Amino acid sequence: MSWSYKNHLRTSSMSKAITNPLRIGLRQERVISPQCLVIFGASGDLTHRKLVPALFELFKQRRLPSEFAILGCARRPWSDEDFRQKMQNSLKEVIQEDPTTWEHFVQCLFYEPVDLQKQEDLVSLSKRLEEIDKIRATHNNRTFYLSVSPKFYAGGCKALSNAGLLKDPKRSRVVIEKPFGRDFRSAQNLNQIVQNCAKESQIFRIDHYLGKETVQNILVLRFANTIFEPIWNRNFISSVQITAAETVGVEDRAGYYESSGALRDMVQNHLTQMLAITAMEPPGHFDPEAIRNEKAKVLKSSRLANEIEPWKCCIRGQYAGGGSQSHPLIGYREEPGVSPNSSTETYVAMKVFIENWRWQGVPFYIRTGKRLAKRLSEVVLTFREAPVHLFDTAGGTPTSNQLILRIQPNEGAIFKFEVKSPGSGMKSRPVEMNFSYDQSFGEPSDEGYVRLLADAMLGDPTLFTRSDEVEAAWKLYTPLLQIIENNPRDLPIYPYESRTWGPEAADALLAKDHLLWRRP
Ligand code: BG6
Repeated sequence: MSWSYKNHLRTSSMSKAITNPLRIGLRQERVISPQCLVIFGASGDLTHRKLVPALFELFKQRRLPSEFAILGCARRPWSDEDFRQKMQNSLKEVIQEDPTTWEHFVQCLFYEPVDLQKQEDLVSLSKRLEEIDKIRATHNNRTFYLSVSPKFYAGGCKALSNAGLLKDPKRSRVVIEKPFGRDFRSAQNLNQIVQNCAKESQIFRIDHYLGKETVQNILVLRFANTIFEPIWNRNFISSVQITAAETVGVEDRAGYYESSGALRDMVQNHLTQMLAITAMEPPGHFDPEAIRNEKAKVLKSSRLANEIEPWKCCIRGQYAGGGSQSHPLIGYREEPGVSPNSSTETYVAMKVFIENWRWQGVPFYIRTGKRLAKRLSEVVLTFREAPVHLFDTAGGTPTSNQLILRIQPNEGAIFKFEVKSPGSGMKSRPVEMNFSYDQSFGEPSDEGYVRLLADAMLGDPTLFTRSDEVEAAWKLYTPLLQIIENNPRDLPIYPYESRTWGPEAADALLAKDHLLWRRP
């Protein structure tokens, strides 16, 4: 049995007892083929915090085939039993609620010590995979997940390819975590290396924001309704704000974060993907390549608002201490593992333009930061003001209509518009129409990794970034990365107090355009 994405669309009729099949028609189910998921970096944080919990959830929802195995690989000399024990600890709370599922799930877990730089380890890995194929009937189908330090992505792909583990494009795939490269050139080099080892159809570059239900909902909202698309352009929209605000600090990831910073950690990937989905043209059909073509096109048309003097359209910040007397918070430079003179940014705000027919002249403001006042990710589309203000406004200043797409938390959408303020006068005042996922569907959405792991194992690349998208995203920020590297004084780091909305300079960036950041 081999794979092809189309083969996974199995058609089945819905239950006759509850529906009329003639009216509802046929339903398509996506079925994951027998396979072994190999996780490199199995002793790492991502595996126990995100990947294994997501796999357990898929198992609980009966979306994994019975012929399935997870092979954890890392340098530590663990046994299968050690790995199972560690994963059991990570899943403690969910196992308490559902011990029976764990008893079945644990039988899928295996471990093999592997150093991707040692050829002999790849030989033993191949043997182990053959054994697992026999025990779990996984038919030589393999998804390799590189949850390792980015410096091992190229070497890891080469090692798998040299061991012959990627040679059958129908049976093997590689999932690569972010960051994919450090800048345009390194991303291009990495793409070349990876594409020498495997076909593009085998490569799944993951960005967990694309796994979020609400990010996908932007596509549905735009392309399943007729009311939004006609106004989704420069004629009606005056500006767009894209925010990913976090309350957490760097946590225990200083080693990685010091050489990354918010621009590489959040902007180049998560925020840029939100921008692409918000701004892309409608695809001809819901097909992975059609969607990715449109995303790549819009990214290739994106420019920093000031390419000649990029420092004028970007603000970098770094959190200082703050918090309350009872919960004081230390500043970034005091965090363990961070240099006391660190110039790594934990906050970025910038202005971008998309030079195409739809968006010419509409500023896209992007911001992200750690230790901000609230955890919140959202896309805010602000519509043009009414051409004539016929009514006084209750608050004194006229407000514009806004559509707020809430990515997290309180997933949903809000539409802000003006109504008559009650009373004898004719004053207008803004109100909100609110759609909440929780209230409408009554159950929380799956974590991004649940969706993305399932899609990777199905071979559905729609929600993964293609090589040209990643390169276009890096290219967009190249002028800024060059300044940070060569003339950092041109892009100074502004300190901001923890649990505030970032440096004042970021407010000034919008004030120049007579605008304010949204502060929910
Ligand atoms: C990760 C970043 O990709 O995304 C982290 O490396 C960040 O620094 C995280 O905290 C945010 O993800 P989420 O889903 O919590 O918004």
